[in-house]
Amino acid sequence: MDDFIRALPKIELHLHIEGSLEPELMFALARRNQVEIPFSSAAEVRTAYEFDNLQSFLDIYYQGANVLIEEQDFYDLCWAYLLRCQQDRVLHTEIFFDAQTHTDRGIAFDTVVAGLHRALEQGRKELGISSELILCFLRHLDEESALATLQQALPHRDKIIAVGLDSAEVGNPPQKFARVFAAARRAGFLTVAHAGEEGPASYIHDAIELLGVSRIDHGVRCVEDPELVQRLIATRLPLTVCPLSNIKLRVFANMRQHNVVELLRQGLCVTLNSDDPAYFGGYMNANFLALAAAQAMSREEIAQFSVNAIEASFSSPERKQQLAASVAEYLNQS
Ligand code: ADE
Ligand code: ZN
Repeated sequence: MDDFIRALPKIELHLHIEGSLEPELMFALARRNQVEIPFSSAAEVRTAYEFDNLQSFLDIYYQGANVLIEEQDFYDLCWAYLLRCQQDRVLHTEIFFDAQTHTDRGIAFDTVVAGLHRALEQGRKELGISSELILCFLRHLDEESALATLQQALPHRDKIIAVGLDSAEVGNPPQKFARVFAAARRAGFLTVAHAGEEGPASYIHDAIELLGVSRIDHGVRCVEDPELVQRLIATRLPLTVCPLSNIKLRVFANMRQHNVVELLRQGLCVTLNSDDPAYFGGYMNANFLALAAAQAMSREEIAQFSVNAIEASFSSPERKQQLAASVAEYLNQS
């Protein structure tokens, strides 16, 4: 089964590019840009990656992002991630970036987008990996900052397909960004939001109602509201679930207790994703393998995560057809 998983065509819909910064690259960029980091080796960085909850992770994650300064740094970061996609047979990926983490340090929005976009274009040409960019607003910051960031994104509407909402969830409910998301939708962006990771099921409901989202990121706490679960089944509104992240941030005590397989069997459009792979112990294959090691699934069930992700993706109908054909062909052959 492990070989079946490794070669299965995959689609990633929940990946923070800053969360793919491996300690080795963090050190190389710190040296290149002469940025101080409070670690003496990559191994020491890894031992610091023990988290009690979302906030304890975010503190370290934002600190790590300080080494990203030049357009080339964002390119290098994104290219390294795409090479990992190739290894894990990820054929399509939709990437979050946290613009405010960089613009608040004086890095131009355009620098960030230029570096990421250059890598994604190269990935499309040289690796055959299709992709989309999603601008995430940091929900611990205020509405004004999000609105200013949206303004900066407008000239890049051709390179950014959607806006999202991430960072500290509890205490920063969807309604805080209702006006920002309305403005984003008017400007032609699709919308997604992290909800129901640490926050309550009502945040999932509110993200759907008040932010008009096409997908929910995480969403695993939907089970606390049976009516909401029925609605997610009926509408097929997708959840981008991140198994290893949920264990690392203690959303579930262990992988046997994770609810994503149960949600799949109930008919929700759930997908598997890596979230912040450099921090949580692995990329797409590692997430699939860890889940399959803890909970028995058939090949068809495992492949259904890819089928769901194609349905949930923001790629063109033509690309979706190609991706679906890759998965179907793989299932027929193996
Ligand atoms: N930023 C990066 N990863 C995140 C997560 N899992 N939840 C909220 N914000 C994030
Ligand atoms: Zn996330």
